[in-house]
Amino acid sequence: MNVSGKIALVTGGGRGIGRGISLVLANNGADVAVVDLILANAESVAQEVAAVGRQSMAVAVDVTAQASVEAMVRQVTERFGRVDVLVNNAGVIGAGGWEDREKPNEEDWDFIFEVNVKGIVRVTDAVAPKMKERRYGKIINIASIAGRRGSDRNMPYNVSKAGVISLTQGQALDLAPHNINVNAICPGLLWTPMWERITARTAMTPNPEGKTQRELFEDYVDSSTPLGREQTPEDIGNLAAFLASDFSQNITGQAINVSGGNHMH
Ligand SMILES: NC(=O)c1ccc[n+]([C@@H]2O[C@H](COP(=O)([O-])OP(=O)(O)OC[C@H]3O[C@@H](n4cnc5c(N)ncnc54)[C@H](O)[C@@H]3O)[C@@H](O)[C@H]2O)c1
Repeated sequence: MNVSGKIALVTGGGRGIGRGISLVLANNGADVAVVDLILANAESVAQEVAAVGRQSMAVAVDVTAQASVEAMVRQVTERFGRVDVLVNNAGVIGAGGWEDREKPNEEDWDFIFEVNVKGIVRVTDAVAPKMKERRYGKIINIASIAGRRGSDRNMPYNVSKAGVISLTQGQALDLAPHNINVNAICPGLLWTPMWERITARTAMTPNPEGKTQRELFEDYVDSSTPLGREQTPEDIGNLAAFLASDFSQNITGQAINVSGGNHMH
């Protein structure tokens, strides 16, 4: 997947899936702006990008805050001149204290939507105008297989990810006349801090046998994934690199599962 010479911006790039996407893009030739709520993590990944010989920068951003998003995009554009590839990866599973709640509350609904859905709208709206001017851009939204199905255990998260899939289709229609492709990736099950939170929430992962959180995760992978293995940040990065490359020029408005067959649709 050749993305040589492209400038990529990855939100939530400081760890987990965002880190994996940043590194795969860099290994395939892109320069990467790693942006995250936690600046130290973004800086650490930016250093890893630099170590493979690509240009990088780290910027602090809160995708729930319009002024923060605008300042971040300004900084990236000043340094790199443009953004060719935007990966909207920043996402959350619940608000603070979510692990201890039997059911998500209104704060969870609001917080999840602010980050997972409106965060993508804010960042895309800040990046897209210059892409339109140049009549070039690849936008990749990280949804989830959770967006393909309902959940009685974490309804707001699943609804938010269904929203990301719908948002992707709307953005694809909006931006197609400007030669900008917009697609979503639906990751399956990855052992990141997000899944550590899920396995810590007993309402979501009952644990009568006192298993470790990692064992609970492995059980879930075994019971739900036809290929019998968890996904890795590199798996998600590989598809992101393809969607960021010119091999994907006729693909837009799609949501593609990377889930070992966990979801087939
Ligand atoms: N882990 C999985 O199994 C899985 C499966 C499907 C989809 N996803 C999605 O993949 C994406 C990444 O998840 P992950 O597992 O790497 O989670 P993670 O919690 O490890 O990483 C999320 C990153 O987003 C950043 N972030 C959170 N809120 C932010 C904000 N307001 N502004 C800027 N950055 C913010 C965090 O600091 C963190 O670096 C999310 O959108 C998630 O919903 C994860």
